[in-house]
Amino acid sequence: MENNLPVNIREYQELAKKALPKMHYDYINGGAEDEHTLRDNIAAYGRILLRPRVLVDVSNIDMSINLLGYDMPSPIIVAPTGSHKLANPEGEVATARAAAACNTLMVLSFSASCKIEEVASSCDAIRFYQLYVFKNRDISATLVQRAESHGFKAIVLTVDTPMLGRREADIRNKMVAPANANLEGLMPIDDLDTAHISHLQTDGSKLEKYVRDTLDPSLSWKDVEWLKSITSLPILLKGIVTAEDARKAVEAGAASIIVSNHGARQLDYAPATISALEEVVKAVAGAVPVLVDGGVRRGTDVLKALALGARAVMVGRPVLYGLAARGQAGAKHVIEMLNRELELAMALCGCRSVAEITRDRVQTEGDRFR
Ligand code: FNR
Repeated sequence: MENNLPVNIREYQELAKKALPKMHYDYINGGAEDEHTLRDNIAAYGRILLRPRVLVDVSNIDMSINLLGYDMPSPIIVAPTGSHKLANPEGEVATARAAAACNTLMVLSFSASCKIEEVASSCDAIRFYQLYVFKNRDISATLVQRAESHGFKAIVLTVDTPMLGRREADIRNKMVAPANANLEGLMPIDDLDTAHISHLQTDGSKLEKYVRDTLDPSLSWKDVEWLKSITSLPILLKGIVTAEDARKAVEAGAASIIVSNHGARQLDYAPATISALEEVVKAVAGAVPVLVDGGVRRGTDVLKALALGARAVMVGRPVLYGLAARGQAGAKHVIEMLNRELELAMALCGCRSVAEITRDRVQTEGDRFR
């Protein structure tokens, strides 16, 4: 196997499909309703072409960035995705170790299957914590405090999930909410029935019901104020795809905006994130760094996102494919592959540093029609 490693993310995806039960592969891989946005998240990258510059000395490529005061060797970050134990029994601990081995920032999901404390003590690394807001604010506040006291450096508030998107594969497969290790002890056990793996295949409505019963659909801009009042950590808002909301996010004091459509798992026919990025970047006008996720599968995708103004990109499913196929080593290899692909793409485009990945290195559809 070690001599015959996958050579790209697509091959990892195929291995993951073979390795996982159909229900779990579909849960990871699927999107909302017609999956139009799911396809377009990837297809939209294909519609952007590169404009390489040649005869530049590219013997040294520096991919490093600074995000919220932290120096990082590469702009590729691990997105928050739930329930890594569905992909591998070691769960988020394996992912955290893989990310740390690559000096890559990991955002730990609220819906993690390993505890905040376990992940924090598994290895030294800079990590952010992703939050959903519960109807019972005390539960969310407790999670923020746990993350803060265990050294997480920022809170990523996901704002695109007032209700769960309609993921039809999960409905068909009767998928229910997998265990959320961090909620035990925070909610009455009766309310946690979906958190028990033994219920996994019993009732297809439970994933959606779980979110409806627990997450707060009244979440609004004033809750960003509330979150600021309970933590001194910087707050990133994840799930913004319009200039209007980007401006509001800056006004609300967000430290960063993450252009995301939740990997196309929420609102179908939302724009592909790479198509929405430039609108957000222009609206923000440099006030805060803008990140993007959704559909990043190649180093060239990362280069395109940076050329359109992203400070960094996050990857979700690719890391889970690596984890499912080969555990911690697979997740690490996926991150390494993307880093190597980015390095090569930068060299072939004549960019020696991320600062040199300027807007003129890409040609979008809009540019062609202009
Ligand atoms: C997610 N995503 C997500 N986002 C979030 O804020 N909290 C979460 O718990 C999850 N859980 C989750 C599970 C799975 C299986 C997937 C695939 C995605 C969305 C994630 O952070 C990110 O926005 C997308 O995964 C990015 O798209 P790609 O890279 O998967 O195409």
